[in-house]
Amino acid sequence: MKNVVQALVGAQWGDEGKGRVVDVLAKEVGVVVRYQGGANAGHTVIVEGKKHVFHLLPSGMLYPGRVCVIGNGVVLDPEQFISEVKGLDPSPESIGTRLVVSGSAHIVMPYHKKLDALSENARKDSSSAAAIGTTGRGIGPCYVDKYNRIGIRAEDISDPDLLAAKLRMNVEEKNTILVKLYGEKPLDFDELFEKALEWGRFMKPYIGDSTMEIDSAIRSGKRVLFEGAQGTLLDVDHGTYPFVTSSSCVAGGCGTGGTLGPGRFDRVIGVAKAYCTRVGEGPFPTEDKGETGRRLRDAGGEFGATTGRPRRCGWLDIVGLKYAVRVNGLDMTALTKLDVLSGLDELKVCTAYEIGGRRTDNFPNSAAILDRAEPVYETFKPWSEDISACRNFGELPRNARDYVRFIEESTGVRIGLIGVGPGREDTIFVDF
Ligand code: IMP
Repeated sequence: MKNVVQALVGAQWGDEGKGRVVDVLAKEVGVVVRYQGGANAGHTVIVEGKKHVFHLLPSGMLYPGRVCVIGNGVVLDPEQFISEVKGLDPSPESIGTRLVVSGSAHIVMPYHKKLDALSENARKDSSSAAAIGTTGRGIGPCYVDKYNRIGIRAEDISDPDLLAAKLRMNVEEKNTILVKLYGEKPLDFDELFEKALEWGRFMKPYIGDSTMEIDSAIRSGKRVLFEGAQGTLLDVDHGTYPFVTSSSCVAGGCGTGGTLGPGRFDRVIGVAKAYCTRVGEGPFPTEDKGETGRRLRDAGGEFGATTGRPRRCGWLDIVGLKYAVRVNGLDMTALTKLDVLSGLDELKVCTAYEIGGRRTDNFPNSAAILDRAEPVYETFKPWSEDISACRNFGELPRNARDYVRFIEESTGVRIGLIGVGPGREDTIFVDF
């Protein structure tokens, strides 16, 4: 079967509208897998006028009958998990086998969130380290524990003996940091232990073997979609380090975080907004701090789904997009929010950077170099028509079609889907 296994990744700095593309694709797939990140993500999906925001659960949960998997690469905040499961259905048991959480996914503990906040504050006050502008969801500290091999995994919290041993070691270590480094109160072991056991009781029915789930789905001919969170330019290796998140957001992350060998993927789709946004700190060459940025933010509703922070906005960056094509091996682009560009007085696209007097169209993934990049723009004719009712590529105004074609030609990747509004139906399928 064609395109049995697909990966869908963010091609910019996150918030590209992946949730709504997954939601559209979920109709065609049997299993949706999240493979990295945690409740720092905010996937917004609008179905029949109702807005759903998921931070942790794969957005495929909105389609009855789809199996959703939280892979081992995810860092799972149990409180968020419980609230999203309860919010989906009055009786979580009825979700039954539709939701599978890998026992190897790491648990975000309350001390991870605390350490995240303390470290961000320390960076703000520091003369040598810049704040990252994290979401405060404990993501970095949880991944630190994972790679330091002291993390607590989803399968551990329903085993009182194992949990006690692991938690005791962590509480001792974190108390040293909290008390000696930050002058905070120590953690209470008993309180954390009871809380974690309670989470474990709720989560136990959902814990499973995600590798088996995915493998048997593929063997039985079901389509599987890997749903990325954040975006390529926030990837811990390939993003604008250190202004990145702590996981592998690129397509390669599906292999480790979702457990599938590279040879089994049939197609990689990159989701890109028709312009650019970024939340948090870090370089953003096309950022517009003036009127255009404000118009994009207002028209696009560019406020963080997780933190409510206003997103920084600017023109589409083809240099970054070409980089995303390369590091993910994109086969197709899904272009979202094209409707937001309707009615602008001018329309620009960054096609190269000037860095230290030299022109380049290669994205430097060093924050220090990118910080010095001056965007080189090409100007396009804007369009004034409302395009939200368009359902075929041919119905788009000429200037909008030219804009889309230019993106395709300059990135070398075809655009298979165009989002022209927030709803599930506001989609143009070009050649999907
Ligand atoms: P963290 O993932 O909370 O550690 O935050 C690290 C950086 O990634 C910050 O700049 C965040 O604003 C950014 N970030 C994390 N998750 C998302 C997301 O889902 N969309 C956009 N930016 C994000």
